[in-house]
Amino acid sequence: MSATNREVILGIGGGIAAYKSADLLRRLQDIGYLVTVVPTPSSLNFVGAPTWQALSGRAVTTQVWERVDEVRHVSLAQQAGAFIIAPATADLIARIAAGRADDLLTNCVLASDAPKLIVPAMHPSMWLDAATVANVQTLRARGFIVMEPAVGRLTGSDSGQGRFPDTNQILDAFLAMEGAVRDLVGVNVLVTAGGTREAIDPVRFIGNRSSGKQGVAIAKAAALRGAKVELIAANMEIPYFPGIEVTHVESAEQMLDALRDRFTHTQILLMSAAVADAKPKATALEKIKKAQFNNIELEANPDLLATLQPLKTGQVMVGFAAETSDHLASAQKKLSAKGLDLIYVNDVSGGAIFGSQETQGTIILANGENIPIPLQSKDRLANLLLDYARKQLG
Ligand code: CTP
Repeated sequence: MSATNREVILGIGGGIAAYKSADLLRRLQDIGYLVTVVPTPSSLNFVGAPTWQALSGRAVTTQVWERVDEVRHVSLAQQAGAFIIAPATADLIARIAAGRADDLLTNCVLASDAPKLIVPAMHPSMWLDAATVANVQTLRARGFIVMEPAVGRLTGSDSGQGRFPDTNQILDAFLAMEGAVRDLVGVNVLVTAGGTREAIDPVRFIGNRSSGKQGVAIAKAAALRGAKVELIAANMEIPYFPGIEVTHVESAEQMLDALRDRFTHTQILLMSAAVADAKPKATALEKIKKAQFNNIELEANPDLLATLQPLKTGQVMVGFAAETSDHLASAQKKLSAKGLDLIYVNDVSGGAIFGSQETQGTIILANGENIPIPLQSKDRLANLLLDYARKQLG
């Protein structure tokens, strides 16, 4: 699967663990995958099609006899970069091993040669039955990745090996299957996120509306692709994520210090933080009383990217611009003035983009090429920016 084909078919078998795949679907979307759910008809007894439709935002069908004009088993199979079949019941495993094509999911499986991850969940006696053991062997010999079910308490009162594995384990197995996407192993990626604050007094500051979501999306995407990620976070909470080392800062000066410490060992810098352009000339040590709070004298903050530019020894620098007018021309100017390799610009007139999970704009490369970015998730844009930055690394 290439870094840019993020289409996944999530096949749902008729087991009670089907409801756990709703979380899997969400987590796949969080890391930038576009998921089409294809349930088996019997799985709808556990989780109905409207749930999958609502969560995936896509049509859900189970038979080749629906939407026949689209020839869905072929079109879905062709667009899929990977399959996850979770949960896979003993019956579904048997049908796939036998090459049956008696519902939409098994048709898609036959019609596609994309990598496939099978996540079994069933009673331990069914998992250990000679027929299932042989079917699993057949699938593994054909290149399917078949996970081992987890050991523990089952739906009834007994326990054993047959439980649906933890979502994190499924994601790990999926990302490992997607070996080709781990294209940033050994690369140090430095990301800034959030908005800086410049203290006026102990309780007030000059800040901005940046939510930091784009920076976090970039840090996660880079970590999932194998990079060693350092994230400088300005005034935002960052939940733990493996592979990301977080440094918290408040002001532009603190961010510059943190950047200086890390820039020399960085290969790609993505500067998505919104840095305050100015700060109060002096920060009052005591809270300024209402009667005196009528004028703040400002001085310029350093431009962080422009300060790092002379220290550049092959680092790829990615800038961001949020503009309310004339966006392409101003972004192009920033790209040249700050010595950037590429810049992503979006139109934030009317408060659009801030705080949203989605973004829309243009990537401008140093050679002047413009790539329009239609409305898409910040996770997807994160991966695209990393694709372009990686190309510049050479
Ligand atoms: N930036 C920076 N240092 C600053 C201000 C911004 O490094 N003091 C970075 C931002 O992180 C972003 C890029 O420069 O990646 C463009 O930020 P933006 O605020 O759009 O540009 P400014 O240079 O501040 O220009 P203006 O406010 O005049 O639009």
